[in-house]
Amino acid sequence: MSENRPAVTIHALLKMKEKGERIVMLTCYDALFARLLDACDVDILLVGDSVNQVLAGVDSTLSATLEQMIYHTTMVRRGATRALVVCDMPFLSYQVSRDDALRNAGRVMKETGCHAVKLEGGKPIIDTVRALVDIGIPVMGHLGLTPQSVHALGGYRVQGRDDKAAERLKADAKALEEAGAFAVVLELVPAPLASEISKSLTIPTIGIGAGPACDGQVLVLHDMLGLNDRFSAKFVKKFGALAEDAREATQLFVAEVREGRYPGPEHSFPK
Ligand code: KIV
Repeated sequence: MSENRPAVTIHALLKMKEKGERIVMLTCYDALFARLLDACDVDILLVGDSVNQVLAGVDSTLSATLEQMIYHTTMVRRGATRALVVCDMPFLSYQVSRDDALRNAGRVMKETGCHAVKLEGGKPIIDTVRALVDIGIPVMGHLGLTPQSVHALGGYRVQGRDDKAAERLKADAKALEEAGAFAVVLELVPAPLASEISKSLTIPTIGIGAGPACDGQVLVLHDMLGLNDRFSAKFVKKFGALAEDAREATQLFVAEVREGRYPGPEHSFPK
């Protein structure tokens, strides 16, 4: 538990990599879960644009908006005391122009109180990453399967399988490090390639479907808890069965209300 542990900073994450300590990251979209995860010593809470799929019920992240990300990140920041809070910049909030990216990321930092932003992509957005870092906004990169490009990539599939794509991924990771990113998410990347990239960088890699050699691991919270029973994938391990628990509790509530067993005298006010 996190009592008296210092707040996680981007410098602390670099130190963790140097010392070979694994970094733990989970997605988080609200203050209640932020408080729970923070108390369990999760190092990074990512307010992923996956909120658009997991909570808003849309089938991709493409329609997530800046307002939506600001709303959820503000809640998460309220619930977190130790963890580093990272806000995913949504599609089209940073790709159109560098000025747009600076203004939008600046808004996120000012209005939510988060500690960093995450951007998807490599060389094509390097100047933007450098510009954000230059004005003091910490940037986490995201390579491999980048969900905002799902249609260009032809679906949610493993990236970097052939030599050319692997070389491009390695070059993108290096470019992000050189531009000042403090960490890089590697999503759906073959384990040996993720291992090679992790060894080649001084900044930490955080893997999702990228094997055990990354410097940290991230999962979507609702998948990890077994709460999102509509999604399963090879790389997801369900550490709980919360969908089952929620169903059972709800069925019990329905039955007790229908049968007049709830509320009982202990839940009622005599006067
Ligand atoms: O949006 C998200 O949840 C993410 C993680 C899967 C890394 O980007």
